[in-house]
Amino acid sequence: MAEKVLVTREIPEAGLRPLEDFDVTVLSERPPERGEHLEAAQGIDGVLSTLTEKIDAEFMNAAGESLKVIANMAVGYDNVDVATANERDIVVTNTPDVLDETTADTAFMLLLAAARRLGEGERIVRSGNWEAWGPKMLLGPDVWGKKLGIVGFGRIGQALARRARGFDMEILYSGRSRREEAEKEFDARYLKLDAMLGECDFLSLHTPLTEETTHLIGAGELEKMKPEAVLVNTSRGPVVDESALAEALAEGRIFAAGLDVYENEPEVHPKLLELENVVLAPHIGSASFETRDKMAAMAGEDLRAVLRGEQPRNPVNA
Ligand code: DGY
Repeated sequence: MAEKVLVTREIPEAGLRPLEDFDVTVLSERPPERGEHLEAAQGIDGVLSTLTEKIDAEFMNAAGESLKVIANMAVGYDNVDVATANERDIVVTNTPDVLDETTADTAFMLLLAAARRLGEGERIVRSGNWEAWGPKMLLGPDVWGKKLGIVGFGRIGQALARRARGFDMEILYSGRSRREEAEKEFDARYLKLDAMLGECDFLSLHTPLTEETTHLIGAGELEKMKPEAVLVNTSRGPVVDESALAEALAEGRIFAAGLDVYENEPEVHPKLLELENVVLAPHIGSASFETRDKMAAMAGEDLRAVLRGEQPRNPVNA
């Protein structure tokens, strides 16, 4: 009998192709209700999940002994309880590398849009209230030639640096370790986060969500940034203390922010929704046709590999 596979959301066809030999249930276009999710888990051999589903002990209990693989269609896997998966010998995989360039595009798009006030401008044009070109209308800081601070100088952080170098930006970075090769490639300078906060004009976050990085940027950190600085977050929402950010933006303690991720998605802090100086995107960091195809295919292929007794390409646990 074919193994049972649960695909929690409708995904690009490229992710379903590798699963053709299995008994596949695709749950829903929207994030499934918890009850529906747990019921569908019963007796499955593998799950292809996305970041909107919690794959925790309760889910693994609902699935039972048969569950062998959790293939998460995202590079981040903070929605998966990897410790419990380890205890149960369940392989967890993610989709690294394929989304680096697209996510860096999104970060740079938000950086430009927040600095040059694209959201505000669009709202003015659409409202019919645009009266005339104005010598002092919607001014913002230049991006080119400024200092960009990157928190987390891994693949996505470096892809962002490559774009920024095209704008003659100076690259500063902070993170757990020095990246000497990348320093040479981008002429980048390593700094402790605290020192970088006060020096950079733009700060972009590219760190996974862990206990250590939760609220990495809070009131104290925002206080250290320049008043003309712009914060960009395409990593995970809880890396930033959203209410502290809303306050800093409202009081003009930093110039603007560009956000793709939020602490309680899809909810957005109500104060942020009222502010003009923040560009809000609905977690679309990797949302290009090409990249979503690659992510789906990678997750599907790894899931198939585990069920076939082969080595998956991207295991995150031993
Ligand atoms: C990821 O892969 O972690 C992204 O947030 C999804 O776009």
